[in-house]
Amino acid sequence: MLDVDSIRKDFPFIKNGRIYFDSTATSLTPEPVLNKMLEYYREYRSNVGRGIYKISQLATEEYENARKKVAGLINAKPNELVFLRNSSEGLNLVANGIRLRRGDEIVTTIQEHHSNFIIWLRAKERLGSDVKVVSCNKSGSFNLEDFDKSVTKKTKIVSVTHVSNVLGALTPIKEIAKIAHEKGSLIMVDAAQSVPHMKIDVRDLGVDFLAFSGHKMCGPTGAGGLYIKETLLESVEPLCIGGGTIDDVGVDYYKIKKGPAKFEAGTPPIAEAIGLGEAANYLSQIGMGNISDHEHRLAKMMLDGLLQVRGVRVHGPLSLENKTGIFSFNISGIDSHDVAMALDASSNIMVRSGHHCALPLMKEVLNERAGSVRASVYLYNTEEEVNTFLNALEEISKTLS
Ligand SMILES: Cc1ncc(COP(=O)(O)O)c(C=O)c1O
Repeated sequence: MLDVDSIRKDFPFIKNGRIYFDSTATSLTPEPVLNKMLEYYREYRSNVGRGIYKISQLATEEYENARKKVAGLINAKPNELVFLRNSSEGLNLVANGIRLRRGDEIVTTIQEHHSNFIIWLRAKERLGSDVKVVSCNKSGSFNLEDFDKSVTKKTKIVSVTHVSNVLGALTPIKEIAKIAHEKGSLIMVDAAQSVPHMKIDVRDLGVDFLAFSGHKMCGPTGAGGLYIKETLLESVEPLCIGGGTIDDVGVDYYKIKKGPAKFEAGTPPIAEAIGLGEAANYLSQIGMGNISDHEHRLAKMMLDGLLQVRGVRVHGPLSLENKTGIFSFNISGIDSHDVAMALDASSNIMVRSGHHCALPLMKEVLNERAGSVRASVYLYNTEEEVNTFLNALEEISKTLS
């Protein structure tokens, strides 16, 4: 069981009655992470992978230790973990690095965040790739047969989200990975909304690439991770090359390094990567199982409560079997931005409103072109906060509709 009172003390942002229900967009950052980054700036501020002096060696050690911690969180080997800015950069790296050729097919889904969608539309634009978009029902469930039909011998990559950032619905990754591999395709997972909230094991999932963002998992902005299966490291091309990515350069040749350094051109975001390592440590110490259990308890309250509020339409799964603590809803007759503004003004509650960077899902499946309200819970949220939110919503529904 998670000690939420003591966890809340780690987050200086939580004060003055603020209720933060927007962790799907970005999470709060705890003191140990902030302190770890300050430690870098105060104690061993130097470049990594370059200097021979002791302090630079120490910075390099801390940077590589961070890689080990973050890799450990998803059961990857350290050399399979590339530090990047965020999920978007990881997804772009793979879309550009797998050497797509004319005639290759790509399979993705209607639930994707734009960051895992327009990269494939761009491939279609540039190469004429056939992009197949697997749809889901209004509850956010996929039919595995649709993947079976869409993935063919020509499919180069299947790229799917693990958890919808709109519906909180869980995608059956293991089963989709099996379908992809049986047909000889690669599989990439957008894990921006899963790595922060549940135990992830890339080997158990059986995936080739998995991208996530540090800023959604108690880490700083500007650092994220991309898992690349060891056997694929050599065949994927880096997005950028330059300092730090080479073994040798002559006047008319260069030899690119092997391993994750090949993808980390130039001086990396050192403090941020070290901070992300500390965030991985922080989450592991609390226990990913404890975090998801806590979120599940809050999600149950949230779902039961939302279904009681007058005029509320909850989108996505109406059971928690395959769902995380992300809730999207509309109140009949009230614009989603008005609901978000009213929650902020009346009760200091922060939620997201709009299309959540998932316009294909909003338009084609939910039929909510104008967007929805999204409230999401994380390890620092409490039952009391959920109750305050539900009461405020009831009031807004009465007065604005
Ligand atoms: C499912 C999903 N994928 C990708 C992203 C993009 O993440 P970032 O902005 O950190 O690159 C997000 C951000 O909300 C997301 O929810």
